[in-house]
Amino acid sequence: MKKERKSAPAWLEEGRSHVWHPYAQMQTMPPPLPVARTEGCRIVLADGKELIDGVSSWWSAVHGYNHPHLIEAAKAQLDTMPHVMFAGLAHEPAYTLAARLSRLTPGWGGEKSLKHVFFSDSGSTAVEVALKMALQYWNNTGKPRKDRFICLHRGYHGDTFGAMAVSDPERGMHKAFKKNVIMHYALEIPSGEYSFAEFAETLKDIAPQCAGLIMEPLVQGAGGMLFHSPDTLAEIHRLCHEHEVLFIADEIMTGFGRTGSMFACEEAGIIPDIMCVGKALTGGVTGLAATLATGAVYEAFLGDDPEKALMHGPTYMANPLACAVANASLDLFAREPRLEQAATIEAALHKGLRPLRQLSGVFDVRVKGAIGVVQLAPQYFSAEQFQQAFVERGVWVRPFGDIVYLMPPLTISPDELNTLICVVCEVITAWAQEVRQKVGYLFR
Ligand SMILES: Cc1ncc(COP(=O)(O)O)c(C=O)c1O
Repeated sequence: MKKERKSAPAWLEEGRSHVWHPYAQMQTMPPPLPVARTEGCRIVLADGKELIDGVSSWWSAVHGYNHPHLIEAAKAQLDTMPHVMFAGLAHEPAYTLAARLSRLTPGWGGEKSLKHVFFSDSGSTAVEVALKMALQYWNNTGKPRKDRFICLHRGYHGDTFGAMAVSDPERGMHKAFKKNVIMHYALEIPSGEYSFAEFAETLKDIAPQCAGLIMEPLVQGAGGMLFHSPDTLAEIHRLCHEHEVLFIADEIMTGFGRTGSMFACEEAGIIPDIMCVGKALTGGVTGLAATLATGAVYEAFLGDDPEKALMHGPTYMANPLACAVANASLDLFAREPRLEQAATIEAALHKGLRPLRQLSGVFDVRVKGAIGVVQLAPQYFSAEQFQQAFVERGVWVRPFGDIVYLMPPLTISPDELNTLICVVCEVITAWAQEVRQKVGYLFR
């Protein structure tokens, strides 16, 4: 029997003409789904319908929603001190978090440990801070002409101006601002015909003007969920060091278990000079990000000269509430088997999604850690229609570009994961049959 739909809540009607949604053509976008609450790995809509979350609220809710340990930490912190400014003042949640976070980073304990932590409030801001750090590092060490960055095709590092400038200049979502941002050097990741030798040659030529190279290690997220190997990552890192270019790892998406290790850089055995984290840092509860630097970078800012200091300080920097939740999230990583859960998800994604490769219009199926990607023929693909089909079947998956991807909470239950994968397979199989009919042959 069909369930009767409740009418839209009053707040939705009242706010509809006021609210501006992200990345959306407001005139044509389908009405957003009103959410009443979240629970475990589910989003509960105002009409009572439950959606299994396949994308962890933009890849942040690694422990699922409303994890009691995170909620308790937040409530306790709210009672004592929700916020206090961080200039000239110190508080336990931030100091504890900085020490704990450092200890978790790749290469901890060695000479090149990432032991200096600058907190901010979003991933984009953490990237801005990283870029500023790199520029000022060279300024402070007498090489001010190193004032450009190397970034990678298909890279995405956020929506603010500095971050846009180091994201893919051609294919990224910020094309409209191409003329408004500083031009940096965008290189292809070496693969196939574009060899490492060519990449190295270009890097060597531009290195004297470059403060740093920024990249998403192992998985480029918003640029299309593209993977490269740990060897590729290690070689790019090596070349940066050889040519005096700081290596900035943007682990905002990859960090905290998503690729199967705590941080993607670990898999390549590298220690970045600067590393950005955000998103899952608080387990998706509240905004917080951090930019970590090695001793060598940090020490370049020390001295008697106030001009050498890092001039940055967001109002909500190191927000105690967010830091307390982030500490609780790190407790969960220590106590609960998140990396094992990522490995289980990886195996299930491999097994469940692989058969899609045989279908018409399916160009690629790839899996890395708790990330599963199905790349489809763009000319027949409508992200909107796919999303609607997913919602009708009780899952929340947001395709973009030419891909359908899954990045579920690491705590997802086997049954929920199975449902998620089955629904994705069902919707893509139906679509592939239509493609085959339209094209008239098996099109891959
Ligand atoms: C790799 C990467 N860097 C930076 C950002 C920007 O983070 P935020 O949306 O928190 O500003 C994102 C967001 O998707 C990201 O995936």
